[in-house]
This record gives sequence, structure tokens and C-alpha cells, in this order.
Amino acid sequence: MAFFGKTRSKPHVVCVPFPAQGHINPMLKLAKLLHFNGDFHVTFVNTEYNHLRLLKSRGPNSLNGLSSFRFETIPDGLPESDVEATQDVPSLCDSTRKTCLPHFKKLISKLNNSTDTPRVTCIVSDGTMSFALEAAEEVNVPVVLFWTNSACGFMCYLQYRHLIEKGFTPLKDSSYITNGYLDTTVDWVPGIKELRLKDFPSFMRTTDPNDVMVDFVLWECERALKASAIILNTFDALEHDVLEAFSSINNLPPVYPIGPLNFLFKDVTDKELNSIGSNLWKEDRECLEWLESKEPNTVVYVNFGSIAVITNEQLIEFAWGLANSKKTFLWVIRPDLITGENSVLPQEFLEETKNRGMLSSWCPQEEVLDHSAIGGFLTHSGWNSTLESVCGGVPMICWPFFSEQHTNCRFSCHEWGIGLEIEDAKRDKIEGLVRELMDEEKGKEMKEKALRLKELAIDASCGPYGSSFLNFKKLFHLFS
Ligand code: UDX
Repeated sequence: MAFFGKTRSKPHVVCVPFPAQGHINPMLKLAKLLHFNGDFHVTFVNTEYNHLRLLKSRGPNSLNGLSSFRFETIPDGLPESDVEATQDVPSLCDSTRKTCLPHFKKLISKLNNSTDTPRVTCIVSDGTMSFALEAAEEVNVPVVLFWTNSACGFMCYLQYRHLIEKGFTPLKDSSYITNGYLDTTVDWVPGIKELRLKDFPSFMRTTDPNDVMVDFVLWECERALKASAIILNTFDALEHDVLEAFSSINNLPPVYPIGPLNFLFKDVTDKELNSIGSNLWKEDRECLEWLESKEPNTVVYVNFGSIAVITNEQLIEFAWGLANSKKTFLWVIRPDLITGENSVLPQEFLEETKNRGMLSSWCPQEEVLDHSAIGGFLTHSGWNSTLESVCGGVPMICWPFFSEQHTNCRFSCHEWGIGLEIEDAKRDKIEGLVRELMDEEKGKEMKEKALRLKELAIDASCGPYGSSFLNFKKLFHLFS
């Protein structure tokens, strides 16, 4: 058989993303980079549910893969549901943790016993899919954990144990969420001078001592210590102090910042490989044509990512905030963005903005943020969105929804000076912030800072001496 020759001896990386858009995207980029740049055989493991969704949004042949870049699936443990249904994060965290391991072990064994696949040499698993550690132990290969969030977010997750020990969480009662308590600042997080409790990933805002998400964070952070290495989609110049402070955490494996993968990834020129996509929703590319007709820096781009949900009241506040700002906007409203029934944009709003507003349901975000027409990004501060905005040199208005989006927002607004925070999502506040970003001196300064960060991001990931590029190369010996 041909595969007992050269191919049989190729290093073989198995990539296991957490089954949500913001995790699949960076993992797929990394997988393609390893295949293209390091000549690795790659197995990419989706959940069965997401595999069906990807086939639906991208077409029946979209996941055929290449001879040395293949897809496999494992169940996520949730009851079967319609592929249009949204899977909620706490249930997914709980069920993947409890169900995936035996299925994954079986898959590794199948790959190792297959005659047309090289033996597995390494597993790159999402930081929140750490069941891979046990499977790897059985076949004696290293696990690299990919925490797909920011370094500041990861650092805050590592502090959850201290938040409990110091009595900050669970909250005494739910009034603590609104009574100003979350404005309390702490100065003991390594690499971060000062942080408000409200800047920590949001799962600590619970009154339940057995909260499923807090338990999950503690469990995964504990297990991060067992990995051979941790990789982050960030870069040294952006999060230097926090990255340096990881060395002060006992027993934490080496942390390699290899981002932004968006730029590192631009080297991947293989057409077939690039045709493999990861959008769980069907992409609408019409907005790119629309952007072509707009002047540079004139369009506000609004998108709340893949998980955030908003109420109909909030939708209406955002709508009128945008309309009253009189700015041109591209607003992406995911089919499952709004909770509750009968959510429609007011006819008056549609009439008023018909010549300057474009609505879409899911767009090619990276290309949008790269477009010269985009002047600002109203975002939920998801880490991918934040990084993609940095890569586009686009300043932001931040409205964090959950998890470490609050930490990303804090860093965007207060450390990097490229964000304005929405504290109260009311139409006049939104209108004011949009004007500040698009018209005022502060907005211009933010734009300059964002462009400077873009340059630093390019320096980190492109060219032979970039810090992220060098870290990526260092990882090769682990993967092989
Ligand atoms: C969330 C968190 O915010 C993130 O920080 C965490 O690590 C994972 O879960 P999500 O809501 O998916 O993520 O946001 P984000 O991290 O910004 O990722 C969304 C991804 O979907 C981005 O890569 C973005 O480019 C893509 N996207 C989003 C599109 O391609 N088109 C869209 O219309 C919307």
C-alpha cells in the first residue's frame, strides 16, 4: 500500500475544536496552517451536529477534505435536534465534558489502525475539550491545548479559584449584580494592574455555589496544567504583560502566542484547502458589493457574533441609535439573534434608513472588517471579532454579552484605547457613541491606535522574525 511509504510517516495532528463558531474558526485556520506550512496530515474533528450544519450552510461536498486533510465526527451528547436550533453553551460544556471521551478514544484507535492514515503524533484540542488529555495518554502522544480566547481572558479564568477563595463569588444575592458591587476593583491578577469584578468573565456573576459554568471553568483550568503546551490566538505586542505573567503561575505549561492567525493564515495559498470553510450560517456576500459603493471610513458595521442574543426592546434601541446617528451602517442580524416572538424592526426605521442601511443575516466578517469603507465596529467583543477588528485597523464600540467578552471590552477600551464601551444600551447613548467614534477627535485617535496595532499584528505574524511566527515554528517539534 502506498501509505506505508512517505505518507505513513507524516506527522499526524488531530484537531478538536469546541463546537461553537468562535472556536471552530481559529482551530480550522491553525489546522490549515499545519497542513500547508508543516506538511502535517490533519484530522479535524467536528461534532455530528455541527458537521450537519456545515454541510447545510456550505453544500454537500464542502467537507470532503483532501487526502491528507480529513474530517471526522463525534457526538456532542445533547439530544438530537433540528440543525436550525441553537445549542446553548452551558449545556454543551456539560455534555461534551461528560460524553465525548469514549467516542474520541475510539476515533483515535480507528485512525491508528487505519492503513491509509499515518499514526497520530499529536492532539491539538480546544482548552475546553480537555477530555483529549486522557485519550492522548493512552496512545502516548502530547496534547497542545488551544485556548481560543484572549490572554487577558484566559488569565482571568485562571483566577476563578482565587475569586472563590477570596469570597468574591458566588455573589451573596442577585442584588449584587446591580448594586455597584461589581465595580469593586482588584489588583492581584498577574499581569493586570487593576480590574473591576465586572471585567472578569461573566460566569462569576452567579449566586449558585454549584454553578455549572463556574465548575466547568475550574475543571478546565486545573486540567490546563497537564498539557504539553498552551497556545493562544494573540500576539506579544498586544498582551505583553499578561503573557509574561503566565510564567508566575505554578505548573502552567509554556504558553505560545501565535496570533493573529488571520495574518499568519494569509500565507496559505492552496485553493483546495482554502475552499474548506467553517461558517455554521449561510454567508451572504452581497454586502461586500454594497460596501464597494461607499466612501472610506464611512460605514458602521454592527455584528454581535455567533452566540449573543438580544431582546426585542434592545433591538429597537440599537435600531433607533443607529438611525438617529445618521450614519451609514451594515447590520448583521443572525436568524437566532433575537429572543422571543414577533421581533421585527419598526417600519419607520426601515423607511428612514433605506438609503443608508444594509441588513444581512451572516456576512464574511473578516473581509468586511478589511474593507476600506468600514469606519467602526459595534461589537459584542468576542475574541475573534476583536482580533479581526485589530487586523482591519478598525476601532470599536463594545457591548459585551457574556464570558470573557467583558475582559476583552475592558482591554479594548482602557488598555489599547481602541474601544468605547456601551454601559447602557439606550438609543441616545448608542447614537452619541456612534457619532463620537465616526466624527469626533476621540474617534480619530482610536483609529490611529487601531492602525498602529494592525502594523504590530503584521510584524508579529508575517515574516521570518515575527514573534508569533517564531512561536508557531517552535511548536512543530511538539506536533511531530
Ligand atoms: C464567543 C466569545 O466571544 C469568544 O471570545 C469566545 O472565545 C468564544 O465564544 P462568538 O460569539 O462566536 O464567540 O464571537 P467571536 O469570538 O467574535 O467569533 C465569531 C466568529 O464568527 C468570528 O470569527 C467572525 O468573523 C465570524 N462571523 C461572525 C462571521 O464570519 N460572520 C458573521 O456574520 C458573524
